[in-house]
Amino acid sequence: MNQGLPLFEQGRHLLSVSQFTRENLRVLFNLADAVDPIAQRQAVCTVLDGAMLGSLFFEPSTRTRLSFESAFLRLGGEVTTTTGFTFSSMAKGESIADTSRVVSGYSDVLVVRHPDEGSVAQFAEASVVPVINAGDGAGEHPSQALLDVYTLEKELNRRGKSVDGCHITILGDLKFGRTVHSLMKLMSLYDNLTFSLFAPVSLELPGEVERYVTARGHKVRFVDTVVEAVRGADVIYATRVQRERMTEELAQANARGDLLNWAILAEADNLEAILMHPLPRDSRPDSYDLSSDVDDLPGLAIFHQTDNGLNVRMAIFLTALGVSNEAVTMTMKRRPWKATLRP
Ligand code: NCD
Repeated sequence: MNQGLPLFEQGRHLLSVSQFTRENLRVLFNLADAVDPIAQRQAVCTVLDGAMLGSLFFEPSTRTRLSFESAFLRLGGEVTTTTGFTFSSMAKGESIADTSRVVSGYSDVLVVRHPDEGSVAQFAEASVVPVINAGDGAGEHPSQALLDVYTLEKELNRRGKSVDGCHITILGDLKFGRTVHSLMKLMSLYDNLTFSLFAPVSLELPGEVERYVTARGHKVRFVDTVVEAVRGADVIYATRVQRERMTEELAQANARGDLLNWAILAEADNLEAILMHPLPRDSRPDSYDLSSDVDDLPGLAIFHQTDNGLNVRMAIFLTALGVSNEAVTMTMKRRPWKATLRP
């Protein structure tokens, strides 16, 4: 799947994590570091002055859409948006190809989320500007995997460890969770990883993803209980049950209460692990997800992920539009306002 796509660089679509090597991943992460003063609101920047983002979200989204749009705006560009099918001409039967050709005529880059696997690649085929995949059904979510790995590196480095050789546990809906598919594939660029996986019946990892990872020399362990899966892990990545992609019966069978909480981590003697989640966390009663009773643990990284999303998405736009670190630095200036709350 997605093999043979060109590496992600200026003038290219970003459809899959398979467009990265360790080298161009490092270049992207260096750009993400370079824009940190903008993400931290210490500086403002006009490097994308005059550029227009077309943001097309045909599935629900909070952080992905807003962080892509914020990233473009914070670089000095402008944004046009459409959300949902109801308010676009797709409700009148317009094809993906026509929609994409039309909107790409107004924009310098498109960000697209759509419920069908492979649909964003169809947008890319008809577009006259680069298309960034913001999630295509149960397929891929490359920008999420990029911000996850960017965060993972920083969290592990802070503890004197590296991604190479690490033990990561992934829990939850491994079948429909596109963030898991993209994360495991992107992490495969590193060396000597152990993936411990726990998924409820009917929500297991697709064989294609397992083969992708094992073919690159990594170990994949399928574990029967959450306690055993999280024992000894450096990093734990929990995910939500993707109810919108399954039958109501299967969703009901997976409304079981906490997937991971403080007591489970205590039983596994791993209260220090780095805790990640792509978010949103399902906070409804009986949801099978990460409990908020872990929120005071020292390894909680879920909001570092969301914050880092801004840096990584800025870096994605700068790459697609061919902007160098130097051009960013030259157009950055100190901002005269303050937006932080007083302590
Ligand atoms: C994820 C997605 O849309 O795949 N959300 C996100 O973009 N951070 C995960 C999810 O919806 O569970």
